[in-house]
Amino acid sequence: MASDVIIACDFSSRREVLEFLDKFGPQKPFLKIGMELFYAEGPEIIQEIKNRGHKIFLDLKLHDIPNTVKKAMSVLSRLDIDMCNVHAAGTAEMMKAAVEGLVRPDGTRPLIIAVTQLTSTSEERMQKELLVCESLEKTVLHYAQNAKNSGLDGVVCSPLESEKVKAYCGADFLTVTPGVRFAESSSDDQVRITTPAKARGFGSDYIVVGRPITAADDPVSAYRRCIEEFLG
Ligand code: C5P
Repeated sequence: MASDVIIACDFSSRREVLEFLDKFGPQKPFLKIGMELFYAEGPEIIQEIKNRGHKIFLDLKLHDIPNTVKKAMSVLSRLDIDMCNVHAAGTAEMMKAAVEGLVRPDGTRPLIIAVTQLTSTSEERMQKELLVCESLEKTVLHYAQNAKNSGLDGVVCSPLESEKVKAYCGADFLTVTPGVRFAESSSDDQVRITTPAKARGFGSDYIVVGRPITAADDPVSAYRRCIEEFLG
């Protein structure tokens, strides 16, 4: 499985994202497209970016009854995306349905990973509001195991959790990790962060990097630096 840097394209319009991508010339980074852009511009934006030669992680975090998720995944699989995701909280049955829906008529399918617990959910909130009584770590690892048993390819997690997820679910189980910052840069609103080189050391397969690249004075240099530090 190839490791890579995925740029989080957290833009809200086609114009902004295309202006950003034009800076990269012939270079075609792997991109994460989220709800903001997808809901603003519709599925056409995915095909347009794909036609420019980028790989796409479509980050829509599906969570619904199994039948609805299966049908929605079947529609998304037609978009020629490379990676997508669901919430593991939707249950193993929902995750299995998601994988089934994602398989294209030719037998191929995009990678599918699970969100375990959002990094915005603290252990205290998880326990008091959601009444999940275990520790956050145990919950993350258990949800990762559910995802693996349901046929998913990996999870989104903090780089600091990568090692434990790999130890629990196997080295081949992918970890896709946001929360990455250059050693000297601001952490923005991220709390548990690490550098690209350390993320690699912890075993992350893909790092998802947003503002350190998108808000940099020179996004192309920042992207190249990420690649050098992460891939070595
Ligand atoms: O700008 P920054 O590098 O913080 O962007 C990280 C990206 O990863 C954002 O798109 C954010 O929504 C996403 N993400 C995250 N933490 C998660 C899941 C996704 O930061 N647990």
